[in-house]
Amino acid sequence: MDEQQWVKIRDILDGKYTGEIVGIRGWIYRTRSSGSIVFTIIRDVTGVIQATIKKGSLSDEEFENAEKALIESSVKIKGEVVEDPRAPDGYEIRVKKFEVVNFAEPFPIGEDQSPEFLLDQRHLWIRSRKLTSVFKIRSTIVGAIHKFFRNLGFIEFEAPILQPNQCEGGATLFEVKYYDRKTYLSQSWQLYAEAGIFALERIYNMGPTFRAEKSKTSRHLSEFWMAEMEAAWMDLYDVIDIAKDEIRFILEEVLRYHKSDLEYLQQDIEKLKGIADSEFPTITYDEALDILRTKENMEIEWGKDLRTIEENLLMKHFETPVVVTNYPLEIMAFYKPPDPKNPKTALCFDMIAPEGYGEIIGGSQRSLDIEYMRRRLEEAGENIENYEWYFDLRRYGSIPHSGYGLGVERVVAWICNLDNIKDAIPFPRTMNRYRP
Ligand code: 4AD
Ligand code: MG
Repeated sequence: MDEQQWVKIRDILDGKYTGEIVGIRGWIYRTRSSGSIVFTIIRDVTGVIQATIKKGSLSDEEFENAEKALIESSVKIKGEVVEDPRAPDGYEIRVKKFEVVNFAEPFPIGEDQSPEFLLDQRHLWIRSRKLTSVFKIRSTIVGAIHKFFRNLGFIEFEAPILQPNQCEGGATLFEVKYYDRKTYLSQSWQLYAEAGIFALERIYNMGPTFRAEKSKTSRHLSEFWMAEMEAAWMDLYDVIDIAKDEIRFILEEVLRYHKSDLEYLQQDIEKLKGIADSEFPTITYDEALDILRTKENMEIEWGKDLRTIEENLLMKHFETPVVVTNYPLEIMAFYKPPDPKNPKTALCFDMIAPEGYGEIIGGSQRSLDIEYMRRRLEEAGENIENYEWYFDLRRYGSIPHSGYGLGVERVVAWICNLDNIKDAIPFPRTMNRYRP
């Protein structure tokens, strides 16, 4: 059969081939037989369709193979596209040729299996319709991020993955043997981006990021993808505006291409549209504490970070993502500067997603004060020598600049309505899971 004759299931369901003879290639998704007729559901990347195989419409050998083939067998079939209201999606293929490319062994995954079992079988479970929908949306989100920054004139810029210094605190560093010395896996692209802006001014990147998170939550991965930006001459409020635009743009792109995937994932499309058309509020940490105190009867000691429980209670009062600025300085990373208007707080922000998906973006203006950063790093027990190159950036033509990082899996989990961030990445890595 000629290559051009393979059609996509989605196109059949869209009515492009009604009454025609077509060929499709894919895998058996479901199958049952009743004597002289076999009903199979075939899947390809674009969807699923019913194929009916009637004894007598094709050779006896082909019919027997169709009866015998278990789910996940790979097949090539040819037949007539018929509109039929009894078929699950309104169309079926009446098969005239049925070729089994590979007879699958009994598939280890059945109905209602535990999340841990499905993670053990991840290499097979990624074929599920749920994960297929998630990874299609994820690809669009990744594409949207590139498009968004390129449209704004940002230049893609790479940092090393092997880094001698921390960016977000020593506690979550993954140590790597580096010949006869040690180094760490990247916690962030940021420090190198701060060098890059002196050449390129506005830069972005999306890359793997590693954190040895000791907490087992539905929001933390040990390996995740971060989309970061850094911009010369911008202050905190400039980058907050960009972050809000970026999230709206991502939503628009997903809504443009993935209505049926969102439906499959039981995501509320109208709700996402509403968010894509909204302004997102910006509040301060102090205002967040006020909301928790007055509306939730929850007293938080000033100076403590917002934990999951507080973020979730806060977000009960918002329908869109919310930006929170001015967290207490001392609990923030060393590079976040004090706000001159309120020096106990930092010129920093988090964007928190609705419905318990937590912090999706974290960013700040960057400190230009070498002495301040030296003190913070020394307090954290860091070897200052490793940061001299970074301080050089403040010695040679220093300028105000700001940036942020977006957690790709957090955004995917939110948009795809997932219970757990693990399903936002093909092969999740957590404290307890590093295979397959
Ligand atoms: O808030 P974070 O730690 O910020 C930074 O790393 C900055 N250096 C970024 C920058 O300014 N260029 O991480 C940024 C985002 C978080 O808001 C969160 O969405 C995500 O990365 N994130 C994680 N996602 C999954 N698993 C984890 N363990 C994550 N840790 C952070
Ligand atoms: Mg953060």
